[in-house]
Amino acid sequence: MTKKTKLEGKVALVTGSAQGLGEAILKEFVYEGASTILLDLNRKEANKVKREIEESNNTTEVLIVDVCDSKSVNIAIDNVIKKYKKIDILVNAVGGFHNFDKIKDITDEEWHKVININLNSAFYCTRAVMKYMEESRTGRIINISSGAGIAPNPHAPSYVPYGAAKAGLLGMTKLLARDAGEFGITVNAIAPGTALTPRVKKVRDPESIANIAKMNPLKNIIEPIDCAKAAVFLASDDARYVTGITMMVNAGNLIF
Ligand SMILES: NC(=O)c1ccc[n+]([C@@H]2O[C@H](COP(=O)([O-])OP(=O)(O)OC[C@H]3O[C@@H](n4cnc5c(N)ncnc54)[C@H](O)[C@@H]3O)[C@@H](O)[C@H]2O)c1
Repeated sequence: MTKKTKLEGKVALVTGSAQGLGEAILKEFVYEGASTILLDLNRKEANKVKREIEESNNTTEVLIVDVCDSKSVNIAIDNVIKKYKKIDILVNAVGGFHNFDKIKDITDEEWHKVININLNSAFYCTRAVMKYMEESRTGRIINISSGAGIAPNPHAPSYVPYGAAKAGLLGMTKLLARDAGEFGITVNAIAPGTALTPRVKKVRDPESIANIAKMNPLKNIIEPIDCAKAAVFLASDDARYVTGITMMVNAGNLIF
């Protein structure tokens, strides 16, 4: 097999990469030759992913950080810079939701929690890496949004605070893409459709997952590797003039 080298020499930090889509993106970056940093809250799962990567004769650095805490994020990014001298690629993959409560039942606390994890976290991480990317006049920022940030899922329930946060993330992507361009930095989003990550297996019932697959034009749901391949493209030199876009990876679940 030809060695994969699309990200050789790059330093990539992927938040939320101890499981799910973030894990798939991190592993694909590793296999494409990047030096990677797995940033997550869940030490047990993070160490499991690190062991799996080491079994393939590769390595990753693990950082246990809460991305909803901006001070911890700043310290973590400064430490990465001290060690690696640069961050070429940031993937903001932390996010998600855990129920389908209707708006009249959503407390202030729950609303803020969902906005924090899906939107504020990406702002904190992006702000922390931006000054270093600007100095080096290169960089790739990839925000993992969701189809929910574009429109309600046509084939299954959606969750209002989550859609609001993910739409916010798309807004941030587009406006920042314009500001960051003069520094050689691209900013893009991926809007995945439903994928069977550990969280989604808990939050969506099997019936609605089967329904999404049946109703999608491509008659299936996506797998985490599909988002990972899209992220490799956006992070690679192949996408050097691609900025401000939302790449929908959703088997046709939403078509615009
Ligand atoms: N799975 C899907 O169907 C789907 C669809 C559309 C969008 N997305 C988006 O993709 C991303 C990943 O989703 P997933 O389903 O893989 O989620 P997941 O819950 O399976 O994985 C999320 C990871 O983020 C980590 N994390 C959570 N809060 C954190 C925090 N405060 N600080 C650091 N790490 C934290 C978790 O420990 C976990 O490892 C999310 O942004 C989600 O909104 C997922």
